[in-house]
Amino acid sequence: MSEALTPQRSFELSIEAGRVFTPAAPIDDRELFAGRTNQVRKVLDAVNQKGQHAIIFGDRGVGKTSLANVLASFIPAGGYMVTRRINCDKGDSYNSVWLKVFEEIQHSEVTKVSGFAGQGHPPRVDASVDIISPDVVRRQLEFWSKDSLLILIIDEFDRVDESYRAIFADTIKTLSDNAVPATVILVGVADSVDQLIAEHESIQRALVQIKMPRMSKDEIKEIVNKMTNLGMTIEPEAVDRIAVLAQGLPHYAHLLSLHATRAALDGMSLHVNLAILDVAIRNAIEAAQQSIRSAWHQAIVSARKDNLFGDVLLSCALARSDDMGTFAAQDVRAPMQVVTGKPYEIPAFAQHLNEFSETKRGNILKKQGENRRFRYRFTNPLMPPFVIMKGFSDKKVTTEVLKQLADSLTLF
Ligand SMILES: Nc1ncnc2c1ncn2[C@@H]1O[C@H](COP(=O)(O)OP(=O)(O)OP(=O)(O)O)[C@@H](O)[C@H]1O
Ligand SMILES: [Mg+2]
Repeated sequence: MSEALTPQRSFELSIEAGRVFTPAAPIDDRELFAGRTNQVRKVLDAVNQKGQHAIIFGDRGVGKTSLANVLASFIPAGGYMVTRRINCDKGDSYNSVWLKVFEEIQHSEVTKVSGFAGQGHPPRVDASVDIISPDVVRRQLEFWSKDSLLILIIDEFDRVDESYRAIFADTIKTLSDNAVPATVILVGVADSVDQLIAEHESIQRALVQIKMPRMSKDEIKEIVNKMTNLGMTIEPEAVDRIAVLAQGLPHYAHLLSLHATRAALDGMSLHVNLAILDVAIRNAIEAAQQSIRSAWHQAIVSARKDNLFGDVLLSCALARSDDMGTFAAQDVRAPMQVVTGKPYEIPAFAQHLNEFSETKRGNILKKQGENRRFRYRFTNPLMPPFVIMKGFSDKKVTTEVLKQLADSLTLF
C-alpha cells in the first residue's frame, strides 16, 4: 500500500485528516458522527411527538452540540424543515435569548427558500420596548411553524442566568399545552436537569430529558476507525489504547487520531501501529489546549525537586471514581503504589489533595463533602486524560499498567 504513497499524496491526506478528525470543533456532518443511537432516537421521538420538547445535558465536551448539529439529517425529507441553533452567552436573559432565536429564524436560508416571505408577517416584536413573555414566544413560533417542522436548538443554555429557569420552564409548558408544532431543544453543561431549568412536575411530560454520558469504548473506536475514510488502517491494539486514554471523551479520540494519522503519513505510511501512536501521544500533549497545559503546570509546580505533586495528580487521574467522577483519598493509594513503586499511606499525600483544591494550585480538583468524608473530582473533565497521557509519555505509566488500569477506570 505504502508504495503508492507519494509525498504529494501524503501531504493531501494529512490536510484531509484535519477534516475527519476535529478535536476543536463539534461534528456537523452525519458521515463523521459516531454512535449515540439511543440519544438520537430519544430526541427524534420528542421531535415527532406534538407537545414534546427536549433537554440535552451532560459534562463539558461529551458531544452535546454535535448531536444537536446532526439531528436534522436523521429526519426524513418531506415538507419544509427549519432547524436553527443559537448559542447563549454569559449575561443572556430570557428576552435576549428569544430575540436571538427570532432573528435567527427570520434570516435562515431555509426559511427563505421555503417561501415564507410571501405568507404574511410574523407578529411584530420590538426589541427596544417589548418584554417577551411565554405568550409572545408562542405566537412567534406558531407563525414560523405554520408550514414547516420547526426545530430550535438553544445551545450553551447553562450560561443563561439561573433566575430565568422558571420562566423557561413556563414557556415549555405553554408551547406544549398549545400544541405548537415546533420543538425546542435546550442544550447545556449540567449534572442534572434542575441545574438548567425549573423542574416542576407539569413540565416533566413536556420535556424529554436526554443525558449525554461519556462515550462507550465502542463509540470511541468508531471515531478512531474513521481513519478508513482516508484509506488508512490502524492496529487493533492502538485503537484499544486510544480508547483507554480517551476515557470516553470524543475530544481525545479526535486529538489522538489526528496526530496518529499525521505521524504515520510523515513516515510515508498508511498504517498506524503502536510505535507511531507513541509519537502521536507526545505530539497530542504539545497540541493540547493551552488552558489544559497551563492548568496542569500550575497544579504540580514546586521549588522542591523531590516533591510528590506530579505523582499524586497522576494517581488522582488513575483513581477509581464513581458515576459522578468523584473519588476519595483512599482510592488514590493503589495508583500511588503503581506510579511511584512505593507504598504511601493517606497522610503522605492528604496535603497535596488539599492544595489541589485551592486557588494556589488552580483548583484543579474540587473538594466536596464533609470533614473526614471528603471526595474529590477534577474540575475540568478534560484534565484526567491529559494527565494520564503525560504520565504515559514521561514513562511513569507503562503499557502494562495502562492495561491493568483499563478495567478499573470506571468511566466506560
Ligand atoms: N458522535 C460523535 N462522533 C464523532 N465525534 C464526536 C461526536 N460527538 C462529539 N464528537 C467530537 O467531540 C468533541 C466535543 O464535541 P462537542 O463540541 O459536540 O461537545 P459538547 O458536549 O457540545 O462540548 P461543550 O460542553 O464544550 O459545549 C468534538 O471534537 C467533536 O467533533
Ligand atoms: Mg457544545
